[in-house]
Amino acid sequence: MSAVSTNRLIAVIPGDGIGPEVARASVRVLEQSATKHGLPVDFHWYDFGAEKYLREGVTLPEAAFQDFKQNYAAVFLGALGDPRVPDMAHAKDILLGMRFRLDLFINLRPVQLLHPAHTPLKDRKPEDIDFVIFRENTEGLYAGMGGNFKKDTAEEIAINEDVNTRLGVERIIRAAFEYARKNGKKRVCMSDKANVLTYGHGLWQRVFKLVQQEYPEITPRHLYADVLAMEMVRAPQDFDVIVTCNLFGDILSDLGAALVGGLGLAASGNIHPGKVSLFEPVHGSAPPLAGKDAANPLAMILTGAMMYENLGFTDAAREIERAVRTAIHQNRVTRDLGGDLGTQACGQAVAELIAAGV
Ligand SMILES: NC(=O)c1ccc[n+]([C@@H]2O[C@H](COP(=O)([O-])OP(=O)(O)OC[C@H]3O[C@@H](n4cnc5c(N)ncnc54)[C@H](O)[C@@H]3O)[C@@H](O)[C@H]2O)c1
Repeated sequence: MSAVSTNRLIAVIPGDGIGPEVARASVRVLEQSATKHGLPVDFHWYDFGAEKYLREGVTLPEAAFQDFKQNYAAVFLGALGDPRVPDMAHAKDILLGMRFRLDLFINLRPVQLLHPAHTPLKDRKPEDIDFVIFRENTEGLYAGMGGNFKKDTAEEIAINEDVNTRLGVERIIRAAFEYARKNGKKRVCMSDKANVLTYGHGLWQRVFKLVQQEYPEITPRHLYADVLAMEMVRAPQDFDVIVTCNLFGDILSDLGAALVGGLGLAASGNIHPGKVSLFEPVHGSAPPLAGKDAANPLAMILTGAMMYENLGFTDAAREIERAVRTAIHQNRVTRDLGGDLGTQACGQAVAELIAAGV
């Protein structure tokens, strides 16, 4: 159980593979920042992951889940995934379980180019690629509704239901507009396939038209998801905030990550405003890199900045982002970004830049 404290508690779950290495480097940076700014945070470490599951059959104990829900400000997760658990049984409870049971309906993924060398697009500068994706995180085709009929026969029927509720659609669209208003962003683009998914995505269209009326200072735009994929590559400068359903958000945010340097830099938050939220880098556990001090910690460090921002520590969050940007420009990075530092040395470089007042 958590200690009695007036500080905001953060549960660190390093997880599997490279998770523990990038978590160690990232928490060091967050602690450095907390000390400098006097932030009231306490990090508590938890060993939930494949190793514990294989040893004890434990995934996420109910008592720990309730503790996180009632006493913690955030969960900071490294990565889950181990070849010895091919069905990812532990991850289903730990990651998906928390996403659904904590009702973390916003999956927020920034797409921000930090260095021109990291985009595969020609002649693009950092100011050309700077937007965020709001992916609906609790419904759609990921709700797990459906089934098989006549399974493993020649007549098999397999169905997954696409669940879109008025409440679910409205709150994610509203969250995107609220973010735009709060951050001075002028454009919100909603994306669906209402031309073919007429019922479910027709609801998205109707709700988008209603909610946009409350935000007259923001320009609404609609693009079908296939066109949006093309436009993100052709004209990324045209976007500030994108909001879309679970499936399209999953795919388009990976496209977004590829536009700005790939998985080593991609951060994400699973958020329910005002409640405990879960922050994790987009990447997985990268088993071939594990234990080699080779993984890039910057995705998790940027995820930590997003967590700090969510907790209201905006100055500290901006400073961590500046430090990451400077480390990249000084080439104090891991091999995947063209540098020669190890995981911990790269994290140390960011911490030093913060200490030096970047
Ligand atoms: N949220 C999560 O925890 C999550 C997400 C995706 C995959 N997974 C799991 O992770 C395991 C491996 O999956 P995968 O290989 O498809 O995806 P992955 O993200 O682990 O790796 C994909 C590629 O990116 C590279 N990469 C990833 N993170 C990196 C980093 N920080 N620095 C440098 N290179 C990095 C890897 O070396 C690999 O080449 C699987 O068990 C999968 O289910 C977990």
